[in-house]
Amino acid sequence: MIKLRLNKKIDENILASYQSEVTRINKMIDDKTGAGNDYLGWADWPVNYDKEELDRIIADAKYARDNFDILVVCGIGGSYLGAKCALDALKGLKSDDKMEIIFMGQTFSPNYVAQVLKYLKGKNFAINVISKSGTTTETSISFRLLKDLLESQVGKEKAKKAIYATTDKEKGALKTLCNIEGYATYVLPGDIGGRYSVLTAVGTFPLAVAGVDVKAMIEGAAKARKDFDNDDIKNNICYRYAVSRDYMLRNHYPVEMYVTYEPQMTQISEWLKQLFGESEGKEKKGLFPASATFSTDLHSLGQFIQDGSPILFETIINVVNPNEDIKIPETEDDLDGLNYLKGKDLAFVNQKAFEGTLQAHEETGGVPCNVIYIDKLDAETLGYLFYFFMRACAMSAYLLDINPFNQPGVEVYKKNMFHLLGKKGY
Ligand code: PA5
Repeated sequence: MIKLRLNKKIDENILASYQSEVTRINKMIDDKTGAGNDYLGWADWPVNYDKEELDRIIADAKYARDNFDILVVCGIGGSYLGAKCALDALKGLKSDDKMEIIFMGQTFSPNYVAQVLKYLKGKNFAINVISKSGTTTETSISFRLLKDLLESQVGKEKAKKAIYATTDKEKGALKTLCNIEGYATYVLPGDIGGRYSVLTAVGTFPLAVAGVDVKAMIEGAAKARKDFDNDDIKNNICYRYAVSRDYMLRNHYPVEMYVTYEPQMTQISEWLKQLFGESEGKEKKGLFPASATFSTDLHSLGQFIQDGSPILFETIINVVNPNEDIKIPETEDDLDGLNYLKGKDLAFVNQKAFEGTLQAHEETGGVPCNVIYIDKLDAETLGYLFYFFMRACAMSAYLLDINPFNQPGVEVYKKNMFHLLGKKGY
């Protein structure tokens, strides 16, 4: 489903030199014996997922599609980025779907929050609040405001039927609220952390409401699990990619830049930045994940990438067959000088921009470039891609001897903020 071409600094000898480490770590993932082993539920989720819950999610999503005009997804970090990136990638940035999906709970910005609340006033909306801990402040504040607005518009009882919650099975403030209010509730499994949760209800409920074929997405992930759950470094492209990242970090390339030529995939880069940044950035180790969307950013970051400090390598996700295309028309006067492209598709131009840039960066600029080719952007391929990256991330982090599944550093800003806000105990 996907093809990988690694950068020219990586050869078969380098990859083979990692074989024993890859064998050890793959077994550690399978046997769940490494650091953070109680958060490895995502590894078998594409085959072990709760089928009854998914059927209920699909039925509830159909009800929501038929009865509301807008779904507000309220979450942050891993409780938001997966659904957001899949939605953009699969529905595009100018979707005319009858169901509008809006994201909130990912910021304290008074401007953003006030704008969304104003926009929702008088509209027929439902809420999907997502929080594993049930206590994340950004999400909690937004949910309180959204709930207030909804109740003021439709009354307390009707509001209960318009609130869908995704949280821990047993614990947390949100779970307690769900029990009291009787919201439809889905589970974020205890052994799956936020940034590995896109294939659970965290992603599937909002995506199903948006009309995405979530079963196909999970099937794609199941195919990836079958392809990548082995230690064969000669053929397993997931681990070849993971190993190459480790090699680049150890050989003075501390930045990995994810690149797409599709603006609707920019959010996939955001998901990747969270996945890799939060999983690996510990103990003063890890690649810094950056991103760019070409050709747009060739007119901003392009100069640095071509000629600036040689600190980064690229990982380009190239979609071979775009879902839509447009032909460039001919004009009689050719005043803009574009008739040499008449009748050509934009996909052709975008592809040539990719090929020309790859050559410029690799050959002229000496920037190492990996390319991941995906045939097309659909739910199954995206599910496959999600799993590819999650498994690669676990392998990469373990190669650095890091627990991929915790995020102790995130607590520091929270403690300071709570102290400044006057929260009890801080
Ligand atoms: O990946 C993670 O674990 C985090 O990014 C969390 O998803 C994020 O902090 C939100 O947490 P919660 O779902 O508990 O509100």
